[in-house]
Amino acid sequence: MVIDLASEETLKLIAESVKVPPSDSYRSTSYLQSEEAYLAKYQASIEDPESFWREIADELTWQHREQAVVEGSLPDFRFFPGSFINVSENCVDRHATNPASRNKVALFFEGENGERKAVTYLQLQREVSKFANVLKSLGLQKGDVVSVYMQNLIETYVVLLACLRIGVIYNTVFAGFSAEALRERIVSSNAKAVICANGSYRRGKVLRLKEIVDEALDCENQVENVVVYNRVQGLETPMMEGRDHDYDAIISQALANCPPEPLDANDPGLLIFTSGTSGKPKGIVHAGGGFLIGTYAYTKYQLDLRPEDVYWNTADIGWLTSHIFVLVGGLALGTTTILYEGAIDFPHQGRLYEVMERYSVNKVFSAPTAYRMMLKYGLDLAQKYDLSNLSLLVSVGEPLNPEAWQWMRKALGRGDVVINNTWGQTETGGTPLASIPGATVMKAGSCGVPFFGHQVDIVGSDGESVPDGTPGYLIIRNPFPSLARDIFGDHDRYLRSYFAQVPGAYFTGDSAVRDSDGQFWVLGRVDDVINVSGHRISTMEMESSLINHRAVVEAAVVGQPDEVKGVVPVAFITLEKSFAPSDELAAELKQQIVNDIGSFARPERVHFVEAMPKTRSGKIIRRMLREIIQNGEVRGDVTGLEDSDILDKLVLDVTGQGNAV
Ligand code: PRX
Repeated sequence: MVIDLASEETLKLIAESVKVPPSDSYRSTSYLQSEEAYLAKYQASIEDPESFWREIADELTWQHREQAVVEGSLPDFRFFPGSFINVSENCVDRHATNPASRNKVALFFEGENGERKAVTYLQLQREVSKFANVLKSLGLQKGDVVSVYMQNLIETYVVLLACLRIGVIYNTVFAGFSAEALRERIVSSNAKAVICANGSYRRGKVLRLKEIVDEALDCENQVENVVVYNRVQGLETPMMEGRDHDYDAIISQALANCPPEPLDANDPGLLIFTSGTSGKPKGIVHAGGGFLIGTYAYTKYQLDLRPEDVYWNTADIGWLTSHIFVLVGGLALGTTTILYEGAIDFPHQGRLYEVMERYSVNKVFSAPTAYRMMLKYGLDLAQKYDLSNLSLLVSVGEPLNPEAWQWMRKALGRGDVVINNTWGQTETGGTPLASIPGATVMKAGSCGVPFFGHQVDIVGSDGESVPDGTPGYLIIRNPFPSLARDIFGDHDRYLRSYFAQVPGAYFTGDSAVRDSDGQFWVLGRVDDVINVSGHRISTMEMESSLINHRAVVEAAVVGQPDEVKGVVPVAFITLEKSFAPSDELAAELKQQIVNDIGSFARPERVHFVEAMPKTRSGKIIRRMLREIIQNGEVRGDVTGLEDSDILDKLVLDVTGQGNAV
């Protein structure tokens, strides 16, 4: 069954896209060196996924290994059941005990304020062990949850690796989230401790993180301890006697020896909240060992990552991308990584390039938004810096438009850099679609090909596969190690959200099309989730926030395409009779979203309208709102409207009267 998920123009663009092979020089050193090699390995991994995952597992360090590779099927599955593996041991000790890598830099830190630090694998092992002992001294045990509210810092990595060392489940909360959003995550995960920085630098300003933590904890909760890292020297930081501890003081007293605990490969390792289709964020649970096995495989083949690389992933630790490709995947492969705090175009537009030049970075991973921002800053700026070491540019999180792709290749990569637009989700714990650098051809804007061991398919609403060139729902038909194992505290929601749509398969919530060359193109979400600068936001979560305002009767939020951010949220509001549209009210409503969710979700505009377009059953037809802001009119089908008379007025409200604030 064909579903209307893509415009004619999009399908034409996809059908006409040109294959670009990787350069011979790249190919000569990559793990896989031809399309045939990819196809043969992929085919073998689908016929016998166990052998592929066994091959990956053989490259890791195990504490105890049973024979079994996969047990069960979707949605109830385990990888390496009864086998024991420790993530922290694989990411740190393996390299710290190897004379060839122990003194190699694991992480270079560059603060937005210009501060620089570095840590070797050996030093990292010592710090991680000490902090694991700190966690133990605070009474934390395997299975307890700790919330981590920190920006990209070496200390953040120490904290997370320490949790992984002893089986404490960490939950990183993006340090741009509001106190309200942080509170919701702390409370609903039953966190017993919070680890935070006192502040962070962002665009030259100091964000007072510890104060936000205090505000978040002003409620009933189970947090007994808060550890505060003084990132911003001299910042007055309120500390609560008995509950709050200074990171430096407490770690200085800890012993540097803490053996990594043997943990079942399917034990929960990390928890990360993400937006779903309903108002309440979902606490995605990943198995520690499973996450390691998966991320190691993705990072090795899709980033072609090696110990000699100097690699920079600009993602913030609040998003799973950094856990997949840096914290776990990157460190497990023993590479050297840059950690950057703050905005990559501050204090000047060339900051990204300056850092790349300083460390001779050869692989860069960022979001399409960031690449588009650099495109806007222009070619001249890029050419002022020595980027000659660059061989691979990677992106994730939102569609990478062909224009940005072409620009990246030309301006950043001298026309021969490999570009890898990867597709993944918080739930997939990795990127089931991507190119294999050096092996597969690229196409400007495509998400490449399925990863080994992943049966990725596109289906119609009847669950049957659709032919190439036909858009449909993106699904994955078999289990893989880094796939989310649960939604924290709500297993029914896990089953309902991902496994109810197509029996026996994982439903991604995205639409996609496969072209005649076998390349996948992800078109967008099929639910109420939008991606703003790669930040995944539920429009329903925003609407629930707006409705709480006393002036609001109804709220609808839709995404509007934006040149840099990909999509920006636009809110539509109908008001209580006693309120009139005003700039002040619009500002208040925007602030309400900032308070409830975070500033990254601030609506670009608020439109006050007299009535919403609705179906006969009373559902707001968001598609029409989208059409009005994009085209200034509704061109699509209007027969579902309960009251078609409202359309003209609505269009006028939005485009004519200047009611947008
Ligand atoms: O809609 C897809 C979009 O981002 C969603 C996942 O967002 P998040 O959970 O924040 O995961 C980030 C990656 C670990 C997807 O459902 N998305 C991700 N990558 C792409 C994409 N859309 C188009 N092209 C991509 N390359």
